[in-house]
Amino acid sequence: MENNLSDSFQEIVLRRRSNRNYDQTVQVPDEVIQRSLERAILSPNSSNMQLWEFYWIKSRDQLNKFTPLCLNQQTARTASHMVAFVTRRDLWKRRMKWHKENILNEVQHNQPDKYQKRMLNYYTKLVPFAYTNDFFGLTGLLRTIVSNTISLFRPMTRMGGVSDTKIVVHKSCALAAQTFMLSIAAEGYETCPMEGFDQVRARKALGLPRSAEISMIISVGKGTEKGIWGERLRLPYNEVVKVI
Ligand SMILES: Cc1cc2nc3c(=O)[nH]c(=O)nc-3n(C[C@H](O)[C@H](O)[C@H](O)COP(=O)(O)O)c2cc1C
Repeated sequence: MENNLSDSFQEIVLRRRSNRNYDQTVQVPDEVIQRSLERAILSPNSSNMQLWEFYWIKSRDQLNKFTPLCLNQQTARTASHMVAFVTRRDLWKRRMKWHKENILNEVQHNQPDKYQKRMLNYYTKLVPFAYTNDFFGLTGLLRTIVSNTISLFRPMTRMGGVSDTKIVVHKSCALAAQTFMLSIAAEGYETCPMEGFDQVRARKALGLPRSAEISMIISVGKGTEKGIWGERLRLPYNEVVKVI
């Protein structure tokens, strides 16, 4: 059983290649995209804050609108669907409230148990400490000072300014993107992640605030051989894997 799973996973990983030219006579069924987005949502993410949104660019009109924003890349031009993977660090208060309500809903007889108290503490104290940012960067500076001071005495997650918060949300969003791409491969179709797009124009087209950032836009379609640009080229295992 285990070996079968491992073999299937190997097959999916090997099957996934970035494809830049899709067969436009084949429309990828909506169910494939929906299932893959449902799987993407199950991806690991920082503090389970789920500071992400996935914009499914589905209609021909919208695909035509986003193609130039993806710099007219062939993979966008020929795509059957596209999905923008978006980070929403601005939604942290909403997510914090959601977690708090979930924990409180589980509380019985008005008395949170030890684990629930810890979780409440985490979401109502640590999360605001980690996610609050202001225009002048003062909260980021305070965070740097506090975390660097504590870390003089014990190991501590180093927290800094807004760029650190951005890294946190982009990491999680990229994991969701990878789950999505592997799922599409498992469904028998192809993808190409794109960072070659106009961030400002694409964000505007999605009606998003400045604090939201598109991590990548992923094209989906039935890949063609022409769409694969050469052999899969990777550095040798020993150059990138360091056993310590
Ligand atoms: C974050 C990210 C952004 C990328 N942006 C583009 C892009 O804009 N256009 C493109 O053709 N490929 C893009 N790629 C695909 C990479 O070029 C590709 O993954 C790499 O060459 C390895 O090939 P493989 O995906 O077939 O294994 C991107 C990949 C990642 C992870």
